[in-house]
Amino acid sequence: MKICVTGAAGFIGGNFVYYMLENHPDYDIVGLDLLTYAGNLETLEEAMKNPHFKFTKGDIADREYVYDLFEKEKFDIVVNFAAESHVDRSIVNPEIFLKTNILGTSVLMDACRKYGIQRYHQVSTDEVYGDLPLDRPDLFFTEETPIHTSSPYSSSKAGADLLVLAYHRTYGLPVTITRCSNNYGPYHFPEKLIPLIISRALADESLPVYGTGENVRDWLYVKDHCAAIDKVIHNGREGEVYNVGGHNERTNLQVVKTILKELGKPESLITFVTDRKGHDRRYAIDPTKIETELGWSPTTTFDVGIKQTIDWYLTHKQWWQNIINGDYQNYYEKMYGNR
Ligand code: NAD
Ligand code: TYD
Repeated sequence: MKICVTGAAGFIGGNFVYYMLENHPDYDIVGLDLLTYAGNLETLEEAMKNPHFKFTKGDIADREYVYDLFEKEKFDIVVNFAAESHVDRSIVNPEIFLKTNILGTSVLMDACRKYGIQRYHQVSTDEVYGDLPLDRPDLFFTEETPIHTSSPYSSSKAGADLLVLAYHRTYGLPVTITRCSNNYGPYHFPEKLIPLIISRALADESLPVYGTGENVRDWLYVKDHCAAIDKVIHNGREGEVYNVGGHNERTNLQVVKTILKELGKPESLITFVTDRKGHDRRYAIDPTKIETELGWSPTTTFDVGIKQTIDWYLTHKQWWQNIINGDYQNYYEKMYGNR
């Protein structure tokens, strides 16, 4: 089996590479990544030592490059993680989200049609369903929930999902989609809530919480997400969408306070800042379909996973310090300076 993992130098793509090398040691994996600000080859340092893994730098929206690669490698499965993934950046500059997330997805699927594959898998997000009200804890996203996006990011992901389903219906491309809730774990880029809070708290810096901190996210440990994708690419039904989540809902304020407690840092570091525009209130996944059809269920609760994650950041300081000492510093100034 030869698998193309796009976005392999990013957070979830990197974790997926390690998951597959460990769980399918006979598979060959080609990691494709453009190495944007979010891509980090240091994440793949260990994988590079494995003869079953190789890396290629390129843009999923570059048709010539993608076709050349597919012609040469003859992939069996393509798993597309490559994306612009940060909501705040999409609010400032939507265009690159449309190019990578929508156009890039269509170029990859065109290559799949041209050169043939057994499965194209699209890694999507629960954000395509929009948000749920805070006062209705009985409501969850199912696969039947209408697409109803809020941000340029989620709109671009929804656009890609619709294209994936259209390629299945129109061309018979063997596709699957997973829509997962918020992930956390090792190699998470420190512009996202959990690694941002860990890294800033360790430096005794102020911790920006948007609005009142009451927004709710449904957190899933990244390895559980990788296990779900593994099940779907092997046993999921073609043309189907599977929601992935583990009923680990927390308000942002709860998450921040948990991290502070674990690190022994004071809550006085918390600073409430101007809310995100169009800020989604609550995400919550109903994972019944993937649980009953494919026998997937998460193994790591939030309480355990957050401790493991904090430990990882404590023992891999070089990995994230290299990021926050680089260009990222300018990003933080620009995004939070006047907030
Ligand atoms: P990330 O930003 O950490 O990684 C994205 C990777 O894609 C980076 O390595 C980047 O260099 C690469 N990339 C960007 N543009 C590219 C292009 N044009 N060609 C090739 N590579 C390109 O993101 P992530 O958090 O790992 O998310 C991965 C996927 O999972 C995304 O599709 C995202 O929408 C989805 N997702 C993320 C979460 C989450 O909580 N992080 C939850 C559900 C779904
Ligand atoms: P984020 O990690 O950006 O993921 P997403 O927006 O895709 O859910 O943000 C998670 C939540 O944390 C979201 O409600 C926004 C909030 N947040 C803050 O309060 N402060 C921050 O500095 C960041 C980055 C996010």
